[in-house]
Amino acid sequence: MKPQLILLGAPGSGKGTQAARLVSELSYNHVSTGDLLRKEISSGSDLGNKVQGIMNRGELVDDNTVLELLSSNCDVTSAAFIFDGFPRNIEQAKLLDEALIKENASKAVYFDIDLDMLAQRLVNRRTCGDCGEIYNLISKAPAKEGTCDKCGGTNLQQRKDDNEETVKTRLDVFKNTITPVLEYYESQGRLARLDASAGAEEVFGQLEKTVKN
Ligand code: AP5
Ligand code: MG
Repeated sequence: MKPQLILLGAPGSGKGTQAARLVSELSYNHVSTGDLLRKEISSGSDLGNKVQGIMNRGELVDDNTVLELLSSNCDVTSAAFIFDGFPRNIEQAKLLDEALIKENASKAVYFDIDLDMLAQRLVNRRTCGDCGEIYNLISKAPAKEGTCDKCGGTNLQQRKDDNEETVKTRLDVFKNTITPVLEYYESQGRLARLDASAGAEEVFGQLEKTVKN
């Protein structure tokens, strides 16, 4: 089985974009804790109501809530997964190993990029509400304005947390939590880094090499 793949990177560094490609070209399963939490919010569940304000402010949901949601949505004994958005802090990195990855082979990949580049990417992101395809009004606009190239739906949405104020908090949270996570994987020889400031095509090439090595 391919290694379990842990994508680490700031908001807007391209984790979701690259995960979608790994799913279609390398048959990975993709689990994004942000997507799972947003699904809970749109279903109006108790969990969704509990996390809505936290996410709109750009803060982190508590570790055990997210771990529980993640665990019920992936079984690493039967398939290779991409973990997108988990772990966000050192506690989650350890929980992920203990509760889910255990002795399965895994690699962490850090999407390295200057944080100053990210607000522009995030405020210009649009996502298809029907199929989840990710767009950007500047770097990846749909061929026909407002229409998804992939599924033809006309439901392109802007995420609630993609506004300047929340983006600032999200980037601050990232800055304050990422270093011990990188040190954790690096010290175990499990960390690869890629240059996430390159174009999406080039980033995928770097990622593919890392996965296959
Ligand atoms: P989550 O949904 O995980 O958001 P995030 O980490 O902030 O990351 P994003 O999804 O914003 O960015 P991305 O790296 O996926 O970028 P994308 O590919 O879309 O989390 C949201 C919230 O949920 C958190 O704030 C927290 O509240 C909560 N949460 C989630 N997980 C949690 C956890 N484990 N613990 C606690 N709380 C948790 O790309 C972004 C844009 O850039 C797009 O427009 C795209 O087209 C464009 N783009 C992508 N690649 C390139 C490129 N190479 N060049 C130019 N543009 C590009
Ligand atoms: Mg994402």
